[in-house]
Amino acid sequence: MVDMNTPIHKGLAGVIADETTISKVNPETNSLLYRGYPVQDLARSTPFEAVAWLLWHGELPTTEELAGFVERERALRDIPDALERILSELPPSAHPMDVLRTAVSALGASDPDVEDSSPEGLLRKAEALFAIVPSIVARTQRALQGHPPVAPRADLDYCENFLWMSFGEEPDPLMVDAFRVSMVLYAEHSFNASTFTARVITSTLSDFYSAITGAIGALKGPLHGGANEAVMDTFQEIGLGEGSGQRATQWLDKALVSGTKIMGFGHRVYKNGDSRVPTMREALVKVVEHSKRPDIIELYDVLEASMREKKNIMPNLDFPSGPCYHLMGFKTGVFTPLFVAARVTGWSAHIMEQRANNSLIRPLSLYTGPPQRAL
Ligand code: COA
Repeated sequence: MVDMNTPIHKGLAGVIADETTISKVNPETNSLLYRGYPVQDLARSTPFEAVAWLLWHGELPTTEELAGFVERERALRDIPDALERILSELPPSAHPMDVLRTAVSALGASDPDVEDSSPEGLLRKAEALFAIVPSIVARTQRALQGHPPVAPRADLDYCENFLWMSFGEEPDPLMVDAFRVSMVLYAEHSFNASTFTARVITSTLSDFYSAITGAIGALKGPLHGGANEAVMDTFQEIGLGEGSGQRATQWLDKALVSGTKIMGFGHRVYKNGDSRVPTMREALVKVVEHSKRPDIIELYDVLEASMREKKNIMPNLDFPSGPCYHLMGFKTGVFTPLFVAARVTGWSAHIMEQRANNSLIRPLSLYTGPPQRAL
């Protein structure tokens, strides 16, 4: 029975909702494991395609398995004509996350096997979405720059092709690697809000696309994935270029006095720093040096140090990834869709896991409205 003495876990903070074998976040040791492997080790040189496979299958692929998956992925990149027509009807002012959410929903509506949630059916959909999301995101990036889409290239791997379709030129290997690192780090993070959304939807025995569409909606919010975009807005508001560090100190003092939440800082689980940040910062530093933009890392370091000193709050992954995507040339509006492209792997793994051992997710609430009264 629920009564006034029943403890409420607002925001489900501290609640263990289920078991998972996909990833382990350990704030005490500041570590994140994907199927047992430290994410920092995977970020060193594992292809993103192999990380996706690991999340879905529980083991890294053999050479043959990876080759087979890569071949299928390269054949699944094209945006179908019917989807292209739907996307071209959306207003140019539509937020890239709304475009992507609409696209995934439309893909579900036109998949004749939408209701096939067998393990094979879910895996087929996971692979197909993994392959097509970059094409949709790159198409939006091109549209925001006033450029036509660039066709995918089957001779390029996932990350190279993503940058190729986004910018229409052969990507620099340093940028490709920084991009790969961001994809690996963003791929999976246990029962975060969007993943939990996907699991809640799956728990009703709804379909794969509905779960991903809902997860995209959850990720859009600035308290979740939308923070990488909001970080860049903060950087722009402070002002890039010479003297960025000094301006950052003044900006932060004012922001903290007015009670503003500083985007890219804080985390529900990590209270002593996000385990992914050092790896992403390393990638950012390489991109900063390559792009000759010391003002970016100066602003980054000053904000980080000041937040630590004044609030004892550390940055999360969105803090280094936002400026990194900016330096790669991405429009701020597509930062969170890039996060979707990565996280679609983790979401898919959780949908498979939820389906394989399902129980309807349905918490209780404590009613605090008026007592029963006569009509
Ligand atoms: N800037 C300033 N203060 C912050 C802060 C931030 N980014 N994050 C947390 N705090 C402060 C809160 O104001 C609160 O202070 P109070 O106790 O004096 O009221 C305290 O720290 C606890 O914050 P709370 O929001 O309750 O913690 P949470 O665990 O619910 O929140 C986040 C976690 C991620 C929602 C929160 O840190 C946040 O909003 N961060 C900014 C958005 C962001 O970067 N999101 C991406 C997350 S990966």
